[in-house]
Amino acid sequence: MANVVVIGTQWGDEGKGKVVDLYAEDADVIARFQGGNNAGHTLVVKGVQTILHVIPSGILHDHKICVIGNGVVVDPAVMVQEIDDLRNRSLFPADTKLLASEIAHLIMPYHRRLDLAREARKTGKKIGTTGRGIGPAYEDKVARTGIRLCDLLDDEIFREKLKANLEEKNFYLTKLFGEAPLDEREVYDEYRAYAEKLKPYVANTSLVVEREMRKGKKILFEGAQGCHLDVDHGTFPYVTSSNTVAGNASCGTGIGPLAIGAVVGICKAYTTRVGQGPFITELTCEIGDRIQKVGQEFGATTGRKRRCGWLDMVLIKQSIRVSGITGIAITKLDVLTGIEKLKICVGYKSPSGDEFTESVPANLRVLSECRPVYQELDGWTEDIQHAKQIGDLPKNARRYVERIETLAGVPLTLVSVGAGRENTIILKSPFSD
Ligand code: GDP
Ligand code: IMO
Ligand code: MG
Repeated sequence: MANVVVIGTQWGDEGKGKVVDLYAEDADVIARFQGGNNAGHTLVVKGVQTILHVIPSGILHDHKICVIGNGVVVDPAVMVQEIDDLRNRSLFPADTKLLASEIAHLIMPYHRRLDLAREARKTGKKIGTTGRGIGPAYEDKVARTGIRLCDLLDDEIFREKLKANLEEKNFYLTKLFGEAPLDEREVYDEYRAYAEKLKPYVANTSLVVEREMRKGKKILFEGAQGCHLDVDHGTFPYVTSSNTVAGNASCGTGIGPLAIGAVVGICKAYTTRVGQGPFITELTCEIGDRIQKVGQEFGATTGRKRRCGWLDMVLIKQSIRVSGITGIAITKLDVLTGIEKLKICVGYKSPSGDEFTESVPANLRVLSECRPVYQELDGWTEDIQHAKQIGDLPKNARRYVERIETLAGVPLTLVSVGAGRENTIILKSPFSD
């Protein structure tokens, strides 16, 4: 099976970075296809932690091609910073290539300012965005006013587009939000410097990936966020502004859908969410606090505390359907060690008696009235961080993952029992047929 997509099945932070880093060993090209630096993907290799926001999680490996696909919105300041940080820490292998799509859209300073200004202005209905300008950047893409990486490299086009955009954005900033306008010269000078630095990385990445595929190379597509943050399939409006589902791996890199052979859905052994929005299995009690502390559930991008709750199979089943997931990877199982009784949500019940087992109700009022239906399982107390095979897990931990596999209806490909690359039970490589 040649090409694999890795995506989150919940509300992000499932451990995609760790799994992509691990699978990258068997891949030749690692391509991000959506989102931007709202993502925070954590890799722990030989005890050293690296958090990536825009660069694909294959970057620590030798001899790979890491691609920032056309579906990503790129903040050039963040990309430059991330490249510099990796180089300063000698973590950017000399024979690994980083390329960004020439048609990827840029995040501009006015996108960040508008994102923050809107969130500050809303009362009660905040989305709790990461404040990185993601939504406004995607809006400009759809409105056909956005600036792309290829435009940044063309001085005349960039000047023209910046001028036209600032005219409109400064109007919003000053007249609607009562804020200071952005200075055209300052933005221009800042972005000129990025253009010089990023020029060597900009390419037609669709062509590059296609060429590698024709040579029989393996492509690993790296999703950001999670299926329930998808702008169509998530808990709208408490979502991000891109399609996070596996289908976008094709559109977001410029590769036809038949190139995808497997989709691995990353599923944290419990549920977390950063920002606002419905969360049926949320635990606002001692157990929730415990999971938050033991799991160190703080946002890798914003540092915000993540809300924690029991595993929700309604979310997972919907993700399996909308993304065509062929295998699931369960992460952070070790965090549940020591909890006496574990619960798995297998359905939502509404006051009128309706039950939802495979799909999250679209109507937020209905969803907010739903109560979780749980199955209860016994926990375990043994340290599982060094388990290498399923058989090394205590009986109750095994039962827990087997129950998830049965409820999911797709095979388990991996169980992660610690943050390090080595703390992993690999059942099946998605690249092998
Ligand atoms: P991503 O956005 O999906 O890549 O996930 P994040 O990196 O935002 O959050 C996952 C966090 O859990 C990171 O701090 C990882 O280092 C950590 N992590 C990943 N897998 C495991 C695991 O199996 N056990 C533990 N304890 N931590 C893990
Ligand atoms: P990774 O890739 C978790 C959430 C934000 C907010 C909503 C909209 O690390 O899993 P945005 O800034 O995208 O407009 O915010 O989406 N969010 C994430 N939550 N993990 C992420 O990425 C996220 N990216 C965005 O908290 O609720
Ligand atoms: Mg994250």
